[in-house]
Amino acid sequence: MCGIIGYIGDKKASDVLISGLSHLEYRGYDSSGVALFGEKDIEIYKAQGKLINLIHVLNSKKEICTSSHMGIGHIRWATHGMPTEINAHPHTCNCENLTLVHNGIIENYQELKQELQMLGCKFKSQTDTEVAAHLIAQEYGKTQDLLKAMQNAVKKIQGAFAFCAMHKHEPNKIVIAKRNAPLIVGVGIGENFIASDVPAIIEYTKKAIYLSDYQTGVVTKNDIKIYDKEDKLTANKIEFLPYEALAISKMGYKHFMLKEIYEQSDVARNILAQKLVSQNENIKLDELKLDGNNIKKITRVQIIACGTSLHAGMVGKYIIEKFAKIPTDVEASSEYIYRDTIVDENTLVIGISQSGETADTITAIKQAKEQGAHVAIITNRVDSTMARLADSLLPVNAGIEVSVAATKSYMAQLISLYLLAIRLRELKFDFKDIEIIKLKQELFELPTKIEELLGHSEKIQKVAKKYSSYKNFIFIARGINFPSALEGALKLKEISYINATGYSAGELKHGPIAMLDENMPVLAILNTGVVYDKVLSNCEEARARQAKLIAVTNYIAPKDENLFDDVIMVPFGSDLISPALNIVVLQLLAYFIAEYLGKDVDQPRNLAKSVTVE
Ligand code: M6R
Repeated sequence: MCGIIGYIGDKKASDVLISGLSHLEYRGYDSSGVALFGEKDIEIYKAQGKLINLIHVLNSKKEICTSSHMGIGHIRWATHGMPTEINAHPHTCNCENLTLVHNGIIENYQELKQELQMLGCKFKSQTDTEVAAHLIAQEYGKTQDLLKAMQNAVKKIQGAFAFCAMHKHEPNKIVIAKRNAPLIVGVGIGENFIASDVPAIIEYTKKAIYLSDYQTGVVTKNDIKIYDKEDKLTANKIEFLPYEALAISKMGYKHFMLKEIYEQSDVARNILAQKLVSQNENIKLDELKLDGNNIKKITRVQIIACGTSLHAGMVGKYIIEKFAKIPTDVEASSEYIYRDTIVDENTLVIGISQSGETADTITAIKQAKEQGAHVAIITNRVDSTMARLADSLLPVNAGIEVSVAATKSYMAQLISLYLLAIRLRELKFDFKDIEIIKLKQELFELPTKIEELLGHSEKIQKVAKKYSSYKNFIFIARGINFPSALEGALKLKEISYINATGYSAGELKHGPIAMLDENMPVLAILNTGVVYDKVLSNCEEARARQAKLIAVTNYIAPKDENLFDDVIMVPFGSDLISPALNIVVLQLLAYFIAEYLGKDVDQPRNLAKSVTVE
């Protein structure tokens, strides 16, 4: 959730650290700080709030900023302790010789804190991280060696961490450690970088070493040494980073979210170009490491994910059950891990995650793997922890998504699920039927229809303006678009803070209808198909309670037009493909409302892009 950056080389460290943190700012952002190793000493600067506050602080510290060529930085999303300057990282020990930044959560921090207090450690912050700083410093007192001190300390720590530490008596080195939180070392020439995520360093290097859990390391200007769980020197391979610096620029759009919404037609086109050759040929999904015989033995599919990825999974349930005819459950990872799930070697578990680093989903996947399931991962990050755990890795290739609100990654997940469902059917039944041919045709047409929608956003903008002052919203739909209602409501609440809830339209009269009056707009997703008339009846019920009604629809009969206050038309598509079209309207609606309200669209309060704590 937080972000880490480290640098050692000839550049001005403060420049590299601030640039790195600015690219991580989307991950978590209530405070930030850097520690700069100067000629003799380590100086720490912190600021509450946005990164710009830290930049202002550093602007008045020209001397250290010019002379320091080594440092560590952090951008924080508070877990333990309020988002104050004191709680911001880096943290230190009593003598302030040791400086540390940390991502993750130290679960036994209270026990450790008590022990350390008895040894005389004085705590300044409320964070769990400060415990690690004192603990490593205590170990340093015994060993006079920062690497050994780190290696001894992490053995006493329970929980998740990526650490980056410097010690005043050991200039020219940064010591690192990782367990259940991502950490990479960017490899340069005469310089090296450390980061919790690729965007922080991609403008400087395209090569990196990924640390595995329980590894520690020492990074100097010209060398990187990695040690395994037993503290023995080990060799991690250097990998090529697949990202372009350009991908993390706004390219003229006001917000990353808008840019990412507009990228969706290309995202769809790129994935389909690689996997869908023609209506009569099989889907090219070699990444699925199951053959027809394996698939015939699969008795159940379990989809696990969180947030937006969970909503994609709910659409996946419809299409997998329809095409592969395998009973499919979908569950939030955070629930899945705390019950006795029935999983065996005939279970296909599909983990979906934009970041590939969501802690709950990682735990759920590990659990399913231990029980013998085949684990397929649908992720946007082939370099993530989840990707490394996958039996079948189904990359979605949406490109880096910077805005906290997931948009293009959702589109890519939906398309991957369509392709997977079709492939499962091809492998299981070994024949091509008209339904598959029709869906493939619709997939071919999808990018153009998305473009058509994006080209006519004026109506959505008008509706957004009209409804931006409402404090509550209800989204209704049925069938395969029920997840679209949930996702539309999630988008609206996370970036505009309007209380929006998605309901299955049929459930409206079982309680939520009590809330309806002229102050409660109801947005109904109406797609021609089996539930169209049912949703229309639910709209009548809402109208009878004076609710304002908005339709997002691909067909409306002239006789029904007056039922609605506003109608937003969507290009025509079958029920099956409609979630991939309707969602574009809902994303734009949420975006424009938040924009009118002057909200911080890309970095909404209290949220982070990647939720690496359970
Ligand atoms: O990286 P993941 O897809 O695993 O993240 C899951 C959720 O945290 C994420 O979708 C979240 O709900 C987004 N803010 C939604 O826009």
